[in-house]
Amino acid sequence: MQEILKQLSEQYGPSGNEEAVRQDLQALVADYAQETRVDALGNLIVRAKAGSAGGQRIMLAAHMDEIGLIVSYIDKKGFLRFTAVGGVNPLTLLGQRVRFASGLLGGIGIEPIESKNELAMNKLFIDVGAKDRAEAETMVRVGDVACMDRSFYLNNGRTIGKAMDDRAGCAILVETLRQLPSSPHDIYVVFTTQEEIGLRGATTSAYAIEPDMAIALDVTCTGDTPEAQPMAVSLGEGPAIKVKDSGMLAHPGVKDLLIRTAEAHDIPYQREVLLGGTTDSRAIQTSRAGVPAGTISIAARYVHTTSEMIDVEDLHNSVRLLLALLQGPIDL
Ligand code: CO
Ligand code: ZN
Repeated sequence: MQEILKQLSEQYGPSGNEEAVRQDLQALVADYAQETRVDALGNLIVRAKAGSAGGQRIMLAAHMDEIGLIVSYIDKKGFLRFTAVGGVNPLTLLGQRVRFASGLLGGIGIEPIESKNELAMNKLFIDVGAKDRAEAETMVRVGDVACMDRSFYLNNGRTIGKAMDDRAGCAILVETLRQLPSSPHDIYVVFTTQEEIGLRGATTSAYAIEPDMAIALDVTCTGDTPEAQPMAVSLGEGPAIKVKDSGMLAHPGVKDLLIRTAEAHDIPYQREVLLGGTTDSRAIQTSRAGVPAGTISIAARYVHTTSEMIDVEDLHNSVRLLLALLQGPIDL
């Protein structure tokens, strides 16, 4: 699974620009799919070969997109002004490298500022090494989108890299498809688009699938770093079963089913209450007349930076939890 996570996390895929990630995933799941389709928003919808057509319809979702930067203006000297795609903190940008779909790299510079309080997106610019606007425009245009450029490392079973949010969830779903021998349920694995800018892919795919139950996989924050806001989630303590975040309450039946399944199979787990942020299951819950939906979260430090850290054991235990769940009865 580490190989898959390395491949997926280094891939280019800011919100609305998920093609490269989707192509990687299409190849990775091809042998385990009885049917795949891509909808108008770019979601990759995979109906699992191991599932049973007459069973309850289960939707599993992980988002392909990552946060990024979009070029808003190119000045006379060829410097690129930009705005955020998703939740980008300007504090994380200074001195970073960005990568465009074409492979073009740029560095991030800053205007002189008096104090750190002035460090805002509008003081920053991307430098692609152009001498003027005309030259810059041979490489990049207004509206082009960049992701951060960062390679993947593993130290002591823990990752350092970009886009663990949410390629970690994608890797878990690929691995689950690979290992699932059979299931009494009809399983739709959805690799969603545009989560970071408003859960948009989950919204349309849930409408189309109309699942009986849904589970999203995504990262969550932790309380285990120096002076962190107290939070009962730590790296390596098992999948975090979401109870609440700032956008949703997990369906109690789904949450309890996840907890019962983890306990019955001796899988370590944590209970998650996240103070800020939400994920795809918020959109899925409120699809059509409502869908019972919950979330399995992966503890992650430094979310939305280029050094997101997760513990690979948490991924393995999440796969175990999903495999157990998908092979048992869905009793909400
Ligand atoms: Co995110
Ligand atoms: Zn996410």
